[in-house]
Amino acid sequence: MPMSQQIIFTNDIVETLEELHDQLKPSKTVFFTDDNVDEKVLGPLISPALKGGPLEDALVISKDEGEMYKTVGEVCNVWDFFQEEGLTRSSLVINIGGGVVTDMGGFAAACFKRGMRFINVPTTILCAVDAAIGGKTGVNHNGLKNEIGVFREAEAVIVSTSTFYTLPMMERLSGFAEMIKHAMLSSSEDFDEVLDNSVTDEDFDEDVWLPLLKKSIEVKRRIVAADPTESGLRKALNLGHTAGHAFESLAMRRNRLIPHGFAVAWGLVVAVVLSKMRNWLPSNILYRLASYVRTNYDVFHITCDDYPQLLDFMHHDKKNFDTESVRFTLLKGLGRPEIDCQVSDDEICAALDVYRDLFGI
Ligand code: GLY
Repeated sequence: MPMSQQIIFTNDIVETLEELHDQLKPSKTVFFTDDNVDEKVLGPLISPALKGGPLEDALVISKDEGEMYKTVGEVCNVWDFFQEEGLTRSSLVINIGGGVVTDMGGFAAACFKRGMRFINVPTTILCAVDAAIGGKTGVNHNGLKNEIGVFREAEAVIVSTSTFYTLPMMERLSGFAEMIKHAMLSSSEDFDEVLDNSVTDEDFDEDVWLPLLKKSIEVKRRIVAADPTESGLRKALNLGHTAGHAFESLAMRRNRLIPHGFAVAWGLVVAVVLSKMRNWLPSNILYRLASYVRTNYDVFHITCDDYPQLLDFMHHDKKNFDTESVRFTLLKGLGRPEIDCQVSDDEICAALDVYRDLFGI
């Protein structure tokens, strides 16, 4: 899969869409979104501005909001709609929303007629720095996340901070955790820069966010360009996700939903503890990260009674080659990811002990 995706930063989504429409000349265009984004962004802000332009007659299909609707069944409904509306391989899908929308809409487009083109317009920071970029599309299946999917790049990703102003702080912080991850994969300068920022100010300040967003997206773009289908280097992007996904799964067992980025933030701390246990990272990096995470992301409560369940989740993580061992992405230094590090259950338990000490639980 060649990396050809354009990433366009703009304050005018409509004008950019119209320019792309002129370049791509689709037979028909469909906006794919969810009810929340339809009500808050597409309906009031985008659709009225399309009047009189080349996208005036674009169709809209909106699904219920939420991860639980990211299923093959829902995609079948989308395919029914595409068929009824006579879409062809030269049609265009514009996915506007968060990661569920871009994953699912990308998948629906990538499979219909063996592949229609699509554009992603992320409306969350989490989606802008992660899901919208890099060609991973898919849906959940039988309780497993992104079990069914294909790699297929969007023709373009349009990043506009105009949709980020109204995001709740929790949602902004969730995206910011992925940006901390990208900074750690990039360099110690980038790590310093993200932790010394004022993104936690109540008002969204574009002057603070935009340079950080651009840098973060560039880190992901560079890694994906080097390894589009995750045969090696792209696994670096799993930093923080092995423990993070286990925390998310445990929360789900407790009937509690935690924002993905919060789980990643706690998971980054565990990954840094493991890296420090191998003498790959100095203590000051761990203490800085842990203090930032504790202050801004609170804490995920666990006791040693939760360790067997957490280990079980990690052994069944789809990033593992087998269920015998758990493989983490760790850091040999800031900007020096080490993929596929085999970590024993004893080491994981020791790291979880340190995590609990750092968070005072
Ligand atoms: N979210 C990790 C990746 O795109 O590879």
